[in-house]
Amino acid sequence: MTCRYRCGDACAHPAPNTSDNPYLGDVIARAVSRRSLLRAGAVVSVAGAATATGAVAGPAAAAAGRKGHGSGNRHGREPHGLRFEPVAPNRHDAVTVADGYEPDVVIRWGDPILRGAPAFDADRQTAARQAGQFGYNCDYLALLDLPREHRSRVLVANHEYTDEVLMFAGYDEENPTREQVEIAWAAHGLSVVVVEEGGGRLTPTRHRLNRRITATTPIALCGPAAGSAALRTSADPAGTTALGTLNNCGGGTTPWGTVLTAEENFNQYFANADTVTDPVAKARLARYGLSGLASQRKWERFDDRFDVSKEPNEVNRHGWIVELDPFDPDSTPRKRTALGRFKHEAAEPRLARDGRVVVYMGDDERFDYFYKYVSKNRFKRGDSRAARRHNRSLLDEGTLYVARFTGDSPAAEIDGSGTLPSDGQFDGRGEWVPLASANRSFVDEMSADEVYVYTRLAADKVGATKLDRPEDVQPHPRNGTVYLALTNNNDRGAAGKAGPDEANPRNGNRHGQIVEVTETRDDAAARTFRWRLFLVCGDPADPSTYFAGFPKDQVSPISCPDNVAFDPHGNLWIATDGNALGTHDGLFGVAVDGPYRGSVKQFLTVPIGAETCGPIVEERFALVAVQHPGEVDGATVEDPASTWPDGPGRIVRPSVVSVRKIGGGRIGM
Ligand code: FEO
Ligand code: CA
Ligand code: CA
Repeated sequence: MTCRYRCGDACAHPAPNTSDNPYLGDVIARAVSRRSLLRAGAVVSVAGAATATGAVAGPAAAAAGRKGHGSGNRHGREPHGLRFEPVAPNRHDAVTVADGYEPDVVIRWGDPILRGAPAFDADRQTAARQAGQFGYNCDYLALLDLPREHRSRVLVANHEYTDEVLMFAGYDEENPTREQVEIAWAAHGLSVVVVEEGGGRLTPTRHRLNRRITATTPIALCGPAAGSAALRTSADPAGTTALGTLNNCGGGTTPWGTVLTAEENFNQYFANADTVTDPVAKARLARYGLSGLASQRKWERFDDRFDVSKEPNEVNRHGWIVELDPFDPDSTPRKRTALGRFKHEAAEPRLARDGRVVVYMGDDERFDYFYKYVSKNRFKRGDSRAARRHNRSLLDEGTLYVARFTGDSPAAEIDGSGTLPSDGQFDGRGEWVPLASANRSFVDEMSADEVYVYTRLAADKVGATKLDRPEDVQPHPRNGTVYLALTNNNDRGAAGKAGPDEANPRNGNRHGQIVEVTETRDDAAARTFRWRLFLVCGDPADPSTYFAGFPKDQVSPISCPDNVAFDPHGNLWIATDGNALGTHDGLFGVAVDGPYRGSVKQFLTVPIGAETCGPIVEERFALVAVQHPGEVDGATVEDPASTWPDGPGRIVRPSVVSVRKIGGGRIGM
């Protein structure tokens, strides 16, 4: 069910990258002979209970029961921020947190956030009510300081998609009602809600900045492809204003205080791709995973724009990075076409040495790519009106690149088993291949507009490296090393598919890996980089796993890394989605340097059917989005798989959860 509602069963369809773009296995021999010439630079339940109830036995659980290395104070020598007993893998219908910590639901689907919005009532949902309430399936979370308002923070949450069968009693998938569809439109998008912080707790307020963005909110199309032929529709002949934002997954926060949000599996909302006969149009749709006739949610019955046979360009107005200014509730959000169109997972900005803005972005599909954008102009510090205006143009003019990874070990040593090559590392070099800059294309036979709108096809042509589902990315706040989560790829090495390469070294990869990317001279704008795998995930008892060399009997099992974030101490926190080890998803902390590098520890687990999203780990609290709890095949409102967070008899509700230390104190200290 997760697959049906979230990504339109992406994994049940053939991976849409059928390009013969050579993958790493093919190019290694060439690369090795060239290598000497390449002198690029060196390189967070309410009912949580950490008891044994529901804990899962087996090697994974045994491995999780690790103890700290210290003596006396057991955690005394562990890194700051990671001094806690790991949570054992489990299947609790709860948010289960490390001993000594307590979870607290901050906000649930349906909680009113706009003034005048009513309290949630599962039996009296309307689109108008939902448009004033917190949306469904919270995913990315950003938390920004609110100048001059002590203790207040602005929380921005994405609402990736809707699980209608868990929202509406008696829901008929074949015959949704107009009201149900309009509620779903209102439950998509984003929420802005100001929260008050005290003692590690976050409490929502009804603030003037609170806002909902939905599937029907006007959003400006900006940047080089705005107004281009492929973005024009009958409702918007200028091609400059889209309605709504769909399937927002991860995101990022800019140095100028705006939030970036990533439109991911937008393809699933559009019907009748199979009626398209023009071969070029058909190939473009197929490369973005559009096929079939009726859509899962049948929105095309209520608005022609979701029917590609009637409004062929509407789909091109989705799949972008959206920039939102949460400090101006009247501002129009902007889709930034300079950052390309694909199944955007996230967008993490970082400043280059010269002050230009770099945004790292993954395209979450099996065998798809890792991108970055480098702005033409430099970030201006300060809060003057001129600086703000300038910074808000930075994502409209720049260069879009895609990554090519090259391994440094002989191809014969990368056999698909995950066995480390003889040099002891999955590692190598890489280059950023330019695709387009302003109105200039670097791709043969594609105009710049085409590169931006059909970015996947452009990246195919330049031989980008096919990765195992690039998810979230996060630059280290101090040293700039970029961490990219590759979540899994069941098709790696399958017949007719790309085989293993050094960055994607396991066939049938079920558990994913995390790549460290170090830009040349640590300059985010560099054209070359070095890379190495930091984690090869799974049960540590599985010989194909790798935890940066840390003893595997002392790490928590981890599967399907997805969203990543850093805490104030420089530890990486990893949220998982789709744990293929048979236990629940969770949040894990890990040191990325020092003697504990690779020492993965599970901090919390989420309820039945849920994925862990949007982690933010600060001094006094950790914050996670508990997305799609209860999402299990066959579950309905009447027969739920989960009753989190409110307990038996109450509808399951995706929610944001904070975790604090019981009695106060700092996380992991
Ligand atoms: Fe919405 Fe790639 O997860
Ligand atoms: Ca190597
Ligand atoms: Ca995600």
